Amino acid sequence: MKNIKVKGKKIIKGKTSLPGDKSISHRAIMLGSIARGETRVKGFSDCVDCRNTLNAFLKLGIEIEDHSQGELTIHGQGLKGLTSSKEIIDVGNSGTTMRLLSGILAAQDFSSTITGDEYLKRRPMKRIILPLREMGAKISSPDDNHPPITIVGQKLHPTDYHSPIASAQVKSCILLAGLYAKGRTSLTEPAQSRDHTERMLKYLGAPVEIKGTTIFIEGISELEARPITIPGDISSAAFFIIVCLLLKSSEIKIKRVGINPTRTGIIDVLKKMGANIVIENVNELCGEPVADLIVKSSTLKVTKIGGDLIPGLLDEIPVLAVAATQAEGVTEISDAQELRVKESDRIGNVVSQLSKMGASIKEKKDGMVISGGKRLVGSSVNSFGDHRMAMALTIGGLIADGETTINDVACIDTSFPQFMDTLNGMVE
Ligand code: S3P
Repeated sequence: MKNIKVKGKKIIKGKTSLPGDKSISHRAIMLGSIARGETRVKGFSDCVDCRNTLNAFLKLGIEIEDHSQGELTIHGQGLKGLTSSKEIIDVGNSGTTMRLLSGILAAQDFSSTITGDEYLKRRPMKRIILPLREMGAKISSPDDNHPPITIVGQKLHPTDYHSPIASAQVKSCILLAGLYAKGRTSLTEPAQSRDHTERMLKYLGAPVEIKGTTIFIEGISELEARPITIPGDISSAAFFIIVCLLLKSSEIKIKRVGINPTRTGIIDVLKKMGANIVIENVNELCGEPVADLIVKSSTLKVTKIGGDLIPGLLDEIPVLAVAATQAEGVTEISDAQELRVKESDRIGNVVSQLSKMGASIKEKKDGMVISGGKRLVGSSVNSFGDHRMAMALTIGGLIADGETTINDVACIDTSFPQFMDTLNGMVE
């Protein structure tokens, strides 16, 4: 199993731009494939998860030209232009691919089976199976929850679904299925989750309407292709922002990062903690806001993290926990039980691994309590095959005394294959 060793560093500095946003990259492939015409994509994230989405659509008969460096041309065949895959579609570790793709495949004239790796097979799919069934979908799995999922394509009808969880994957699955249902489908979520699907659908001219946390979509017959340029991934930026805040005399600039307000929870919380982060050069890119971020070392104090704030920073909690170990006071993270069913149990794993590094951190059912102000010490820690755990622990190692070994790090490629090279180019 691949591991990396990191030593405590003093400074991070320089300018960088990061690979395209992973969530938006998945959606660009999916919507480009079911739009009619050519979609030219720039800034596609060449990570394993997004490659799995690309490969799934190749299997479904879509031609996608890879011009390298994040540039693709997708030859979309229209809403009903996919063809049956000869093989089972294996989407690896990618929950986004499995859940969103299910919404599209539920409405096709053919049957499909989607499977994933050992980690994805442990993740809940009932959350999409039940609402899709409300729309008339024939979808099942061996225990009606865990992959593999089998879908017998059907004519779908609209529904008004109230989701018990704030999940962009559930929401997007239903909105994509809703594109195929005659009439108006709506989805209401308990708090707002990331809205990239709504934004991209609107950008492509689909009839989407938003009222509070309810999204309405009308079934249509065609979606017109348009070029899509993808901003840098704020979830990847979070690792660099936090190491810069924690190392003394550091300053970095991250260019062209997505600052969609449903994703900037990490910046909002860090600013409340006293972080020096300046947002400049704000622009719009295909319906998504982007900006440059300038980050300088800061002394952090604690804040409460819970409630409606959680969906906007859920993926960043492992690295936010590293920041909290260095903040003055006690940080309490609550209402984050969804972390238990991510790529790994991110509550149990963050607590056990940061404890090994000397952090004072306690597990709660729905979060954790971290007493800050204690220096971390180098140790041997494990990612449990979870990319965000591996990167958060690397950041922990960079601010710790001595050497840290992070075990099982090949998973970093899931979202950010360039992570170590980019980091090595900036730390001293
Ligand atoms: C994602 C939605 C979130 C997030 C995941 C990507 C997406 O998951 O954690 O990394 O692209 O829609 P949930 O919808 O399960 O909260």
